[in-house]
Amino acid sequence: MSTLGRIDDLHISFGGVAAANGVSFSVERGELLALIGPNGAGKTTVLRMVAGILRPDRGRVFFDDHDVTALPAHARVRRGLGFTHQIVRPFYGFSTIENVMLAAGHDRTASPWRAIAGRSRTKARQKAQAFLDRFGLGAQAEQSPRTLPLGQRKRLEVARAIALEPKLLLLDEPLAGLSSVEALAVADLIRALPGQGVTIVLVEHNLSEVLRVADRLVVLDAGKVLAEGAPADVMARADVRQAYTGVL
Ligand SMILES: Nc1ncnc2c1ncn2[C@@H]1O[C@H](COP(=O)(O)OP(=O)(O)OP(=O)(O)O)[C@@H](O)[C@H]1O
Ligand SMILES: [Mg+2]
Repeated sequence: MSTLGRIDDLHISFGGVAAANGVSFSVERGELLALIGPNGAGKTTVLRMVAGILRPDRGRVFFDDHDVTALPAHARVRRGLGFTHQIVRPFYGFSTIENVMLAAGHDRTASPWRAIAGRSRTKARQKAQAFLDRFGLGAQAEQSPRTLPLGQRKRLEVARAIALEPKLLLLDEPLAGLSSVEALAVADLIRALPGQGVTIVLVEHNLSEVLRVADRLVVLDAGKVLAEGAPADVMARADVRQAYTGVL
């Protein structure tokens, strides 16, 4: 395996309070890395710095053999760094399939709107339908995302991100709010992605699913990496259990 992404000594403070205090770790090509830790540990903050939504006060972000620290989020997306938000925000004015088409049309040459309005419409629609089928949303293609239950909206969020064909996908709590049956199904879809060429960094509080699907864990606590390694080894550590007291 080779390293696909690496963060080195990331620091960021909000109003004098350090949300990330020297965070370093890497993700290998083809792995599913879970980034876990108690509420307020800094997980979302770290993902946002990797995605380019937040600029670190100090430290560097490397992706696919490049230093991307200075690049804005959209430039990182073009290089193959995708992310999904914890609060899903589909375009409610468009159908489910159009939401995927808007994402898939977002490439170097075409305006996203051309995917819906332009000549490439049929091809884009076929491609989007294939993504929906893969995520179990094929029958919902023409519905508004407004009519979809939360589990299906969460799957749409992942399908939209995958339609951009990222090399690395950052997922922030994709299982939050799902029933245990839905969480199992979405976790299975995520588990399949590394085999399809998409490396995953998964932030998630659902530890039973994390332990079922993750290759490796990084535990954040109070803005620092507390532990990293094989899931069973990490979860056996007393300091990790201590950090989770009240959460587990
Ligand atoms: N934009 C912001 N302004 C001020 N403080 C912030 C901001 N974003 C995050 N924080 C603070 O930084 C710390 C880390 O927050 P973050 O959202 O990264 O934690 P998290 O690990 O994702 O938590 P959760 O599991 O609850 O989602 C918290 O103390 C939070 O209040
Ligand atoms: Mg968070």
